[in-house]
Parts: sequence; C-alpha cells; structure tokens
Amino acid sequence: MDYETVKAYWNQVFSAEQILAPRTKGIGNETLDNALDWLCEGVESILDFGCGNALTLSLCALRGTKKHMGIDLSRTGISHAAQLFGENPSLGDGTFWEGGVELLFTLPSNSMDGAILFNVADNLLPADAALLVKETARILKPGGKALLKLNPHLAAEQIAAWNIKTIDDDLLDDGLFFWNKDTQFWRTFLAPYYEIVREADVYYEEHDQHNRLFLLTARKTI
Ligand SMILES: C[S@@+](CC[C@H](N)C(=O)[O-])C[C@H]1O[C@@H](n2cnc3c(N)ncnc32)[C@H](O)[C@@H]1O
Repeated sequence: MDYETVKAYWNQVFSAEQILAPRTKGIGNETLDNALDWLCEGVESILDFGCGNALTLSLCALRGTKKHMGIDLSRTGISHAAQLFGENPSLGDGTFWEGGVELLFTLPSNSMDGAILFNVADNLLPADAALLVKETARILKPGGKALLKLNPHLAAEQIAAWNIKTIDDDLLDDGLFFWNKDTQFWRTFLAPYYEIVREADVYYEEHDQHNRLFLLTARKTI
C-alpha cells in the first residue's frame, strides 16, 4: 500500500484552487477561530503536517506567528504554499517540503512552538499515524501546543450505505485512506505523547459535517 492515489487526488484538488492570502484571520467558524487563537498565542514557529496549500499557516501568520514550516505529499499543494508565502512577505518566513512522515525524522527535537495536524492523522496508514503523533511531540518544545482535527467517526450503517470499502479492520478506503477510530481510541492513542487541554466539535455548516478537534500540549518525558 502506498500514497500514489492520495497524491494524485490532492494534486488535482489543489490545481483547481486559486492562491490567495486571507484578508482576515477569522474564517467564520467560531470554534476553529478560537482554537487557532489559542494555538498561536505566544507562538513564533509552527509546523503544519499535511499543510496542503498552507491556508491554515497563513491564518496563523495573521495571528502573529513568524516561522512557518509545511510538509505535504502533494507537489501542487507545496508549490502553492511556497508561492503564497513567497508573494506575501508580510506573512513571514515559510519553508515547504514535499513528502510524508519520513521527513519528520530530519527535524530537531524541541525546535517548534506549535503544530497543526488538520484532517491528516486519520487519513494516514495506522503506522504512519503513530509516527506522526510521536514525532510531532518530539519536535515541539516543552509546553509546545498542537491542534489535531479529525474527520467524523463513521457508524457501520454509514459505511454500508455509502459503499465504503474496508481494507483491514477499521482502515477504510473511501478513495483515500480513512482510519475510522472512535474518539475514545484517539484519546488513548494520543495519551503517551500529548496532554489533552480541551476537546471541541467543529461544525461545518456548508458540508453539514462535524470534525473532532483536540487542543494539545506535548508531554516531555525526557
Ligand atoms: C484534508 S487535506 C487537509 C489540508 C489542510 N491540512 C487543511 O486542513 O486545509 C489532507 C492533506 O493531507 C495531505 N496528505 C495526505 N496523506 C499524506 C501523507 N502521507 N503525508 C503528508 N501529507 C499527506 C494531502 O496531500 C492533503 O493536503
């Protein structure tokens, strides 16, 4: 199993999007706006894994972050992200790398203030999701903050009704990978590496869909 289909899908999505810097830091979703306010307060350097076109990083920049690093499998997403920051110097510094979890090993421990993991951890293969959680906690400084956002957990009836394929156990194929774990599972999965400060439900009116949001701080055991 590899991410070739995932790459092709996201390259196509980002190719169809315009590269536009946001004019205001508010995106009209109060829960998400408040969570980004929390994440960015007192934060200078920020890592976004699965950054796509770096829209979220640009919203952080409008909240005062200075040093931005984005990693994404999609070449088009990364190229749009680099163009967005390159053409808008007021957003601050932006470094963008094309690739997956293997790139996290190259980042030093205790080097970033904040991390964004939006709709990516549950779209990875389970072993990669485990690496993502462990490695981002290592890369964050003591007290470093992270925002993790997950897709909705699907009930068995939804999986059947929508004809979603099962690859293995809770790993589904809905065109992309989807690791369909419930919220209690994620709490336990995160616990060795992160303390949960707060949980929130993010409702997207336009898609009539709920996402699960975790406000986290990295545990530093060493
Ligand atoms: C749902 S989009 C979210 C984009 C962005 N985080 C946001 O919230 O707007 C998922 C992103 O994760 C990226 N992605 C998927 N699998 C990945 C992997 N194995 N490594 C790195 N990025 C990946 C995709 O290319 C895509 O940009």
